[in-house]
Formats: sequence, structure tokens, C-alpha cells
Amino acid sequence: MAKAKTYYFCQECGYQSSSWLGRCPECGKFGTFVEEVVQTVSPTKLLAGNEPVSVPKRIQEISYSETTRLSTRCGEFDRVLGGGIVPGSLLLLGGEPGIGKSTLLLQTALAMKEIRLLYVSGEESEQQIKMRADRIGAGGECYVVSETSTQRIFEHIDSVKPELLIVDSIQTIVSDAVDSPASSVSQIRQCTSEFQHYAKTTGTPVLLIGHITKDGTLAGPKVMEHIVDAVLQFEGDRNYGFRVLRALKNRFGSTAEIGIFEMQANGLREVPNPSEYLLSQRDENLSGAAIAATLEGARPMFIEVQSLVSSAVYGTPQRNANGFDMRRLSMLLAILEKRCGFKLGSKDVFLNIAGGIKVNDPAIDMAVACSILSSNVDIPIPPRACFAAELGLSGEVRPVSRVEQRISEADRLGFERIFISKYNAKNLDLKRFQIEVVPVSVIEEAFRALFA
Ligand code: TYD
Ligand code: MG
Repeated sequence: MAKAKTYYFCQECGYQSSSWLGRCPECGKFGTFVEEVVQTVSPTKLLAGNEPVSVPKRIQEISYSETTRLSTRCGEFDRVLGGGIVPGSLLLLGGEPGIGKSTLLLQTALAMKEIRLLYVSGEESEQQIKMRADRIGAGGECYVVSETSTQRIFEHIDSVKPELLIVDSIQTIVSDAVDSPASSVSQIRQCTSEFQHYAKTTGTPVLLIGHITKDGTLAGPKVMEHIVDAVLQFEGDRNYGFRVLRALKNRFGSTAEIGIFEMQANGLREVPNPSEYLLSQRDENLSGAAIAATLEGARPMFIEVQSLVSSAVYGTPQRNANGFDMRRLSMLLAILEKRCGFKLGSKDVFLNIAGGIKVNDPAIDMAVACSILSSNVDIPIPPRACFAAELGLSGEVRPVSRVEQRISEADRLGFERIFISKYNAKNLDLKRFQIEVVPVSVIEEAFRALFA
């Protein structure tokens, strides 16, 4: 028979130890060790078993039927998922409290009218869910139950037989199989694997909501992220209406795509053309504003960068960035000091990305640099100009990916000039565009073209 032995496992990284440890020597986390029973079976016994033996196949010989994805009836959501929900998949949606996770999934549940859907909430009562649904006011149909025990959830599943299961917050669900409180690592692990087992054996997709901790990582064991097929993150600045849905992991699609929503009084609304919203409507032309032609996934997104440069009042100049990496800002400031005579030491610099959106695309660099310079010399950048280039440490303007797509989007939005890297302009058929494309090789050139 199999020998049962207990080991202690770090619930964060999976480190195994024969005794309990306060601090994991592998990942350095405290209090993460949990005792688990491990069945050890000798290898000869394993081979003697009469389970079907898997045979390695040549990859050409393997066939599969093209799985039909379930559309969420929401273009932005589908885009992030890679075209819809794959049958039998287990998805995790994380986000800060109050960002709109429950709203997004309830709204999705109501929109997917044609399928039989069960929405399980461990956080809200059925009346509260109904109130939220009325507030969203989309109409629609789905089964709702307020429940925290997996055993009873599976009983409900047996009676409803849903085609999609949504569980509002894995942190509130408990399984009888584990004797620890809700949201403890072993509970989360157990419940996640129960839902995974259900999803894989029945082919029913399961969407789990997960909380995230202060430092922005998903609460609970890292193993949960390994179990699920996709980890989606819902983020945004709560003071702004914009919400961004991105995939941190996706087994069935790209992680580069993002979905953009706007939180309104009656729920979330899709924003298919973010550029038109993110460019603040301004009549007069003010210094310190520059437009960046960024790309998130396959989608161009035009973003306004605003900066304010003023003489430092205190000894140490202040630097502040909203929606932009501080270290990158310091680097850009150093480049500007070296190349454009910008007096770094005596100026306060404040930077803001309009709309409270975080941008990862390095093509925003040149817009940031030009917006700082514009505020510094107090000369506005011509209103219908935009920028798409990265800056290197010696002030060189570096090429960015898919520049043609950025140019044609700038053209479409009615821009008159776009500044790009000289290296990007090389193989470009500029006659195709109405917009004037300005290739620059170093940041001084852009500076002279704009303010000289
Ligand atoms: P919620 O979905 O409860 O967040 P989460 O589940 O991520 O904790 O969203 C809560 C916030 O959304 C709340 O502060 C109010 C706001 N909200 C709206 O602005 N409009 C709406 O129609 C709804 C339902 C919520
Ligand atoms: Mg919620």
C-alpha cells in the first residue's frame, strides 16, 4: 500500500520541508508553511497499475476539434480573453476592492442571456445582487445564489446545471475537505482545485473573482495562479471613471490586449475608442501638454501627457509622476539635462497621464520629454502634433514597434504632425498618409523643431 507521510509546504512557492518553518528559505515569506499528507507510491507499483498508458505521438498526428468559445457579449472582455471563454477553462479575475469586479461579472452574466448561468456570491446576499442588477438595468437572466460552501455550491450546480459558473470571490468560499478558515491558503488552494476539477470534468467554464493585496498581487497562494488558465486584472484609478482589464496570464490568448471600460452610474460601459476620450477636449493651447501615440496590444491609444515644471521652492526639487514610472521619469530628466540644457537641479517636475491610465508602452517617452520641455520654456506644443518614440540614454530617439499603425491612427484622429524615430521612417511609404511624419534622430532635433 501507499505510505502516507506528512510534509510541510510553503503555500507561496511550494518549498517542501519535513518540519514546520517560520520563514521559507526559498521565497523568504513568513508563516506560509502548511502540513500536508503526501502519498508515496514506489515507482514499480506505479508501472504495474493497469491504467491506460499514454503514448507519445508525433505532433502532426494529434487532432483536435476547434473549440467553440463562448462570447461574453462584451467586445472588450472578449478581446482580453482572446475571443471568448474557452469551454472547461478556469479564469481568475483580480482587482482592488471597489474597482468593479462584481459589477463587471454580474453585468456579463446578465448580458449572456442565451446561456444558463449560475452566479454564486459569498459576499453579497441575493437581495443585494438584485439591487445591483436593477442598478445596471440591463435586463437579462441568470441564476443567483448566496453561498459559501463548495459542497452546497456543487449541489446547486447539480440542480441548475449551468453552462457557466461565476463565483464572487474565492476568498469567501470554504470547503469541508480542509479544516481552516475562509481565505486561508489551504482553503483557497482546495476550493480552486475543486472548481478546476469541476471545470475540467464537465467542460463548464468557471470564472472566479479574487482579491488583491496591498502590494497589488493576488491574495492567496501563488499556486492558485498556476492552477487557473487565465489571470485577469481589473485596474484603474478610482478617482477616474476608466477601468482597464488586462490579462496577466492567458493560456488561450495574448496577454498584450487590454479592454477599456468606463464606470458610470448604471454600470460599466465599453470604451471601444479610448483615444477620443483620453485626449482632453481643450480649446486653448497650453504649455506642458503632449500627445503620445501608444499601443496597448494591437490597439492604438492616444494619451495626453501633462507636465508642470516650476522653480524649486525648497532645497530638494520635487518629482512627482501620476501613471508613469518614477525611475523612468528621473532617467528622462537626466537625458534632458544633458542634451537640452534643462536645469534639473533647480526645478520641480510634476507629471500626469490624463485619465489615470497606466501606460507600459515605451513609445510614450518622447511625449513625456517634449511635454516637460514645453512646460519648461512655457511654449505650447502645436495642438495637432503627436509623438511615438522611445528615448535612449544618450538622447537618441529609438524606433518603436508597429509605427505604421500608430501613424494611420494619428491620421484618422486628425493629427497634422507625428514625430517618430529616424530608424522607423526608413522603410515607410510616407505618401500613403496625409499627416506630416517628422523623423528625428536625437531629442535635440525635436526640441528645435518645436520650440526654436
Ligand atoms: P464593485 O463591483 O462592488 O467592486 P468590487 O466587486 O471590485 O469590490 O463596484 C463597486 C463600485 O462601483 C462602487 O464604489 C460603486 C461603483 N458603481 C458605480 O459607479 N455604478 C454602478 O452601476 C455600480 C453597480 C457600481
Ligand atoms: Mg465585489
